Amino acid sequence: MTRRAITPGTFDPITRGHLDIITRAASLMDEVIVAVAASAGKHPMFSLPERTQLVREATQHLPNVTVEPFGNLLVDFARERDAKVIVKGLRAITDFEYEFQMNALNHQLDFDLETTFIMSPPEFMYLSSSIVREMASLGGDVAQFVPPCVQEALTKKFA
Ligand code: PNS
Repeated sequence: MTRRAITPGTFDPITRGHLDIITRAASLMDEVIVAVAASAGKHPMFSLPERTQLVREATQHLPNVTVEPFGNLLVDFARERDAKVIVKGLRAITDFEYEFQMNALNHQLDFDLETTFIMSPPEFMYLSSSIVREMASLGGDVAQFVPPCVQEALTKKFA
């Protein structure tokens, strides 16, 4: 049986922290689908096609990883792709309450879908897309926090 996992997120934009989680998920599973959420309610800075393209570029070296946008419920998207596991990153303690709620909700919606967490390493523990966006908007150097394609996209966005 193919072990297929979904790593979902808004990825506005993808960071090295996200990439670390995706890479480790890919080493544990046969196939990983990175699901880029529309997240319209969050009013993302990058459009859904832009975010999807950046995740594709950042993960192109990982042979068992594919990237897809989605706009429906995560449990429905997982069911459509016949994925039985959701893999999410867990950073500082502040992530826990939200993830606890999401896990309970998704479990209620689909008992067969398992959510599992990979802890972020210390260097990415406090990294977030919003911090990266703010740093870039103020002219800060984000090279150590994002893949090169994202750095380029941020430079263009704030030119
Ligand atoms: O990177 P984020 O923004 O923390 O990721 C959150 C995400 C996209 C994983 C979460 O919002 C999600 O699963 N969205 C898809 C819609 C959904 O299933 N929402 C939960 C029930 S309302």
